[in-house]
Amino acid sequence: MKRVALIGATGSIGRQALEIVAAHPGLELVAAASGSTPIDGLAPLTQTGGDPTELLERAEPDVVLNAVVGFAGLPVTLWALERGVDLALANKESLVAAGDLALAAQGRGGGRLLPVDSEHSAAFQCIENRTEEQVDSLVLTASGGPFRGRSRDDLEDVTPQDALAHPTWSMGPKITIDSATLANKGLELIEAHFLFGLPYERIEVVVHPTSIVHALVRFRDGATLAHLGYPDMRVPISYALTYPERAATPVPPLDLASGVTLEFQAPDLETFPMLALARTAGERGGTYPCTYNAANEVAVAAFLEGRLPFLGIASAVEETLAAVDGAPARDLDDLTAADEEARRLTEKGAAVA
Ligand SMILES: NC(=O)c1ccc[n+]([C@@H]2O[C@H](COP(=O)([O-])OP(=O)(O)OC[C@H]3O[C@@H](n4cnc5c(N)ncnc54)[C@H](OP(=O)(O)O)[C@@H]3O)[C@@H](O)[C@H]2O)c1
Repeated sequence: MKRVALIGATGSIGRQALEIVAAHPGLELVAAASGSTPIDGLAPLTQTGGDPTELLERAEPDVVLNAVVGFAGLPVTLWALERGVDLALANKESLVAAGDLALAAQGRGGGRLLPVDSEHSAAFQCIENRTEEQVDSLVLTASGGPFRGRSRDDLEDVTPQDALAHPTWSMGPKITIDSATLANKGLELIEAHFLFGLPYERIEVVVHPTSIVHALVRFRDGATLAHLGYPDMRVPISYALTYPERAATPVPPLDLASGVTLEFQAPDLETFPMLALARTAGERGGTYPCTYNAANEVAVAAFLEGRLPFLGIASAVEETLAAVDGAPARDLDDLTAADEEARRLTEKGAAVA
């Protein structure tokens, strides 16, 4: 029996994880946490708000599923990695913001870091513990979001309602906006760099509108492995929670003869500058990825509240990145300071936009 702690139990990932745990006799939900929605009775131990690591200490889980949204998920990521408890990671923001600190914690703790993001789960399965030198390059696919094919002019007046209408995935509001700006793929690029130890020039992003191919890995011998399946987060959630078992899920196998379309295009970096900004922030390293993430969180919240236009998200992030020194974080205090500075600068920018 695997003891599961689910942090972020009321969200899109959290609800799907509850379904997976309930259907699997080898998984036992021992603890669940939410940010503000009451969840009494959902698990033997529950917590709403406050520091979820207190709950984790009491729960003694075998695996923690971090399904919190945003930088708020960082203490959960560090708690699991530091203690050698398996971490099923949906909360990409924590690895983007604190990649070096998280990998150092994993080095000390020795636990497994199992990606839940569908692209990274796919790449993890294609790479299968092979060494970095056997891998030529990694390709992450992007649906392109609801505004694929539009020009900058077309995006001047789009509303939060327009941006929340994602063509292939049903997700929480923050990641849905990130998908519309391509910031989600930017975060995933940085996440992949830390997860797989590949330099940025060996990680490519391509637009693939039907979201059937989740990732591809090219190897040095000329072979390319791809991971295909219907877009359904229950697959990577189940894979991470039951690893290495690959348990059954309710998701049907892919039916190729019914007319699956596999098209790939280069992303439009001019219309969607958040992807290029992420690549630059990742390549510059230090706390630039942390700044990128924090500025994006603030700008997305401002957009959803009607305080910033859609195109203002990327401008606000770009301005904040230009205003910081990006010095590496020696510890969590340094990182928290970089996160707070980025939030303050972006709030100030959004207030005058
Ligand atoms: N949704 C997807 O399909 C998908 C796919 C790939 C990756 N991800 C990643 O998975 C994460 C979650 O996404 P989501 O779409 O599930 O988000 P969501 O629907 O907005 O849910 C977020 C969850 O986090 C909880 N939460 C927020 N702040 C918290 C805090 N301080 N302490 C404890 N819990 C807190 C929320 O609780 P309340 O309900 O009480 O606010 C909620 O349960 C994100 O990092 C996202 O990028 C999501």
